[in-house]
Amino acid sequence: MTSIVPSARLVGLLQGRGPVLVLTGAGVSQESGIATFRDASGIWEGIDPMQVATPRAFAADPEFVWRFYDARRAQAATVEPNPAHHAVAAIEATGRTFLLATQNVDGLHERAGSRSLVRLHGSLWRLRCTRCGDEHEDLRPKLAPLPPHCAACGGMLRPGVVWFEEPLPMIEFARAERAAREAELVFVVGTSSLVYPAASLQTVGVSSGGYVVEINPVRTPFSDDASEHLSGPAGVVLPALLKAAGIPMDRAA
Ligand code: OAD
Repeated sequence: MTSIVPSARLVGLLQGRGPVLVLTGAGVSQESGIATFRDASGIWEGIDPMQVATPRAFAADPEFVWRFYDARRAQAATVEPNPAHHAVAAIEATGRTFLLATQNVDGLHERAGSRSLVRLHGSLWRLRCTRCGDEHEDLRPKLAPLPPHCAACGGMLRPGVVWFEEPLPMIEFARAERAAREAELVFVVGTSSLVYPAASLQTVGVSSGGYVVEINPVRTPFSDDASEHLSGPAGVVLPALLKAAGIPMDRAA
């Protein structure tokens, strides 16, 4: 049974005008039908990340890596944003200073109407040329033949995601870090808080004096440092919070 009892402090902050940062991970898309990485039956249960999510894996077998990402594109194209994505967009739609920093690459936040967002781990829908560096969006759910090649120079394209052993996009991360320092209210939603440097952002929020709320059905290594932990699925907890604060869910684009 999910128990969602937000504190009066949290409801007050949500009703206020102070800056908000929302950090999300795979758990926010779980209710859309996309598996997380580390839960039982998670993506990394079925496949070793070192075989599909590192530059070395891509160099060794680009077609194998591309099949993994192509299947994830195909799945992401068939699912819909859930109430958690819509609630995040509705907070942004209140017009206050707002940033969403997501580790997710599925594009569901954007489809729910989030506009002020940084993609810390890139996007399934961006393709980048390994030869000329050209990057573009490609929304086709299935790419063929694999691996795809660059229309401009013929080089091999790679998924526009961040792999293990690669740095995060510098400008995006700096923007998220600044928002973590300045936010009055930070939500940490659906992430195991195990993957760095993304997981350092919630710690920056705490050390900068922000009120940091974790939303997750289970406790994580970050839970003890959070100002508040709300236990339950994001698609239930976030809409309940918005209701408690009187924020309409249908204001997002
Ligand atoms: P994880 O799979 O590590 O964690 C997902 C979290 O979501 C867990 O803490 C779950 O308890 C929680 N969760 C599950 N269902 C939920 C729900 N309905 N509502 C809210 N929370 C729920 O995923 P991430 O933390 O996103 O990186 O993983 C971070 C990074 O590790 C990913 O971006 C990916 C992965 O390896 C790369 O591929 C580079």
